[in-house]
Amino acid sequence: MSIEYYMSVAKDKLGQKRYIHSVNVKNQALKLAEIYGCDKNKTEVAGLLHDISKDDNLEIQLQTIKNGGIILNNVEKNNPNLFHAIAGSAFVQTELGITDIDIINAIRYHTTARANMSLLEKIIYLADLTSDDRDYSDVNHLRKIVKNDLDLGMHYSLVYIIPDLVKRNLMLHHDTVSAYNEFCLDFVEDYNNG
Ligand SMILES: [Fe+2]
Ligand SMILES: [Fe+2]
Repeated sequence: MSIEYYMSVAKDKLGQKRYIHSVNVKNQALKLAEIYGCDKNKTEVAGLLHDISKDDNLEIQLQTIKNGGIILNNVEKNNPNLFHAIAGSAFVQTELGITDIDIINAIRYHTTARANMSLLEKIIYLADLTSDDRDYSDVNHLRKIVKNDLDLGMHYSLVYIIPDLVKRNLMLHHDTVSAYNEFCLDFVEDYNNG
């Protein structure tokens, strides 16, 4: 299917604000794909569709997850913010017929991250945090980092996000902790050697 088709699906399914965010994430992801040599077709589809289930109500998101044969673990069940990424990964398979596992995983892990992320998964995760519509205080700093080093960008993001989740009394997903440990390892080694 063409990107135009997926743009029309996204436009129909998402509210205006979310649609604009999705297009911005696609554009930012394409910039990173250019820098790091990632497949452009996969990047634009994953970027555009990463939040495709986010404007559905939570019951529909849960139904989409069920239709996709996915069983939520305890952390996921207790964290409705995580539903949309899992539902989105199921929706693109069951409703849009997408079979590319890298696109499916980039959508699924765009909120939690995980260990051993593919290039596309890192690009979508970081494009979501650095798209044009983002305006948190150090977004420009992260925008600079991701142009130079995706792993440093992942580490920087997780160092910011994990304490924020804890302060909000939200559970940490084991995939988020695994991602943090993996990206942290480089810095622990630097520290031990320094
Ligand atoms: Fe999202
Ligand atoms: Fe997003």
